Amino acid sequence: TERTFSIIKPDATERNLTGKVNAVIEDAGLRIVAQRRIRMTRQQAETFYEVHKERPFFGELVDFMTSGPVVVQVLEGEGAVAKYREVMGATNPAQAADGTIRKLFAKSVGENSVHGSDSLENAKIEIAQFFTDADIVG
Ligand code: GTP
Ligand code: MG
Repeated sequence: TERTFSIIKPDATERNLTGKVNAVIEDAGLRIVAQRRIRMTRQQAETFYEVHKERPFFGELVDFMTSGPVVVQVLEGEGAVAKYREVMGATNPAQAADGTIRKLFAKSVGENSVHGSDSLENAKIEIAQFFTDADIVG
């Protein structure tokens, strides 16, 4: 079975929504096989979002991701990468479908409650940034 990487972002932890986000994840048939609450360092956030470093919102994004606690997770299930993207909804909550995490909880395109890997290749890279094999219990 496939694995993907997820982050519950600071806007969601701040509003005490970790359990509600996890309920949507589990109701969709994805299994949370690793989970840890951390405060991201600037270095971690900059490395994680390296692909966006030329984008105008990069500074804002790093500020936001280091502004409060996040919950990093590994999710497992059939087609987990694509399935979680579906469960998250569009980046901009105004465009997100009903029942998606971002439609339910996101505040804006920046403060959009969750991250999910956009490919299997990136999922592997992102998981390895935060978890070792021993942390993941399938
Ligand atoms: P992630 O799962 O977080 O990677 O979201 P995504 O794949 O749906 O979006 P993308 O990779 O294009 O952008 C990464 C993150 O940058 C988004 O989730 C937002 O938090 C942030 N972001 C994207 N566009 C904007 C923007 O126009 N303004 C701000 N402030 N942040 C943005
Ligand atoms: Mg992305």
